[in-house]
Amino acid sequence: MSMVLLVGGAGFIGSHTAVELIGQGYEVVVADNLSNSDASVIDRIAEITGVRPEFYCADAADRGDMEEIFGAHAFDAVIHFGGKKSVNESVSDPISYYRNNIDTTLTLLELMKEYGCSRMIFSSSAAVYGDASDAPYSETAPAGECANPYGRTKYMIEQILTDAAAADPELSVVMLRYFNPAGAHESGLIGERPAGEPNNLMSYVLQVASGEREAQPVFGDDYPTPDGTGVRDYIHITDLAKGHVTALRYAMEHTGAEIVNLGTGTGYSVLDVIKTFERVNGVKIPYVIAERRPGDVAVSYSDPSKAQRLFGWRAEKTLDDMCRDAWSWQQKQKKDG
Ligand code: UFG
Repeated sequence: MSMVLLVGGAGFIGSHTAVELIGQGYEVVVADNLSNSDASVIDRIAEITGVRPEFYCADAADRGDMEEIFGAHAFDAVIHFGGKKSVNESVSDPISYYRNNIDTTLTLLELMKEYGCSRMIFSSSAAVYGDASDAPYSETAPAGECANPYGRTKYMIEQILTDAAAADPELSVVMLRYFNPAGAHESGLIGERPAGEPNNLMSYVLQVASGEREAQPVFGDDYPTPDGTGVRDYIHITDLAKGHVTALRYAMEHTGAEIVNLGTGTGYSVLDVIKTFERVNGVKIPYVIAERRPGDVAVSYSDPSKAQRLFGWRAEKTLDDMCRDAWSWQQKQKKDG
């Protein structure tokens, strides 16, 4: 069976992808610098799957760290989740975002060439669409006019990978543009761990639901949407993880570069999320209408048809599932201290 290196594999999307890959019989090696994750995630992956992935605490921008890993395994593919992902932080500290997100990618590409690994799946983002056109976004929509440095690093890396694939006929690259990942593994054993104050809606809702925060701020209720609040394409983290497995299968059989959206194709408003969470979990989410958040677009959702066409993949879980699974993860964490 194929052997896959998951760079950033202890993080939110990486850990769920590790579970799905192991479930499909792939051999998984995780490299993570633990800057935004915890080594205990490896125990949780082992608990869910019955298989413990080999783990390296390693920085993907550090050639020495990565050479050791590439030297010890013959990888069929690399899945590159290893990036910084806070939009706010990227505005206040752009240099570290360009340095980290681009360096890691270049180092991985160099080592893949050196060690004869020719397939990469890359974590891109719907952030590359910016505000240049209207949803639904298909992969051919204008991209690159990003609202923040985080999105720009993703767009730049897409260009780097496209150029690399054009120059090397052996290379296969799939760039996945994620919409809004939410939820947690249904076991409640792995999920998102926001460091500090959460930026993302669902992470914040969880803290309000558990009483850690008083009220959910709703950033603007005067957008041109049905209820005035921002609309997004929330996708269950397990669906997103399964999307990686199908992308990997595709990359095994094709060369060249492809950009593919991973979303559901359906948009929900902030109030839809709050009301769904309350209904599904029987908890109250007090909220307050706040100012619009700078850099936010009114509406973002995907045209997911390319993923269906190319990979035979589509999202299956609902917003109800995301709210339920996120809440059981949060409660389990609290219980486990
Ligand atoms: N929102 C609130 N209150 C909050 C947090 C968010 O009202 O406390 C609203 C936002 O204004 C937006 C929606 O909820 O309308 C979703 O916001 P998130 O922060 O959860 O997600 P974004 O769509 O802003 O960001 C996500 C990813 C980014 C990525 C971006 C690209 O988190 O990594 O999509 O579109 F860059």
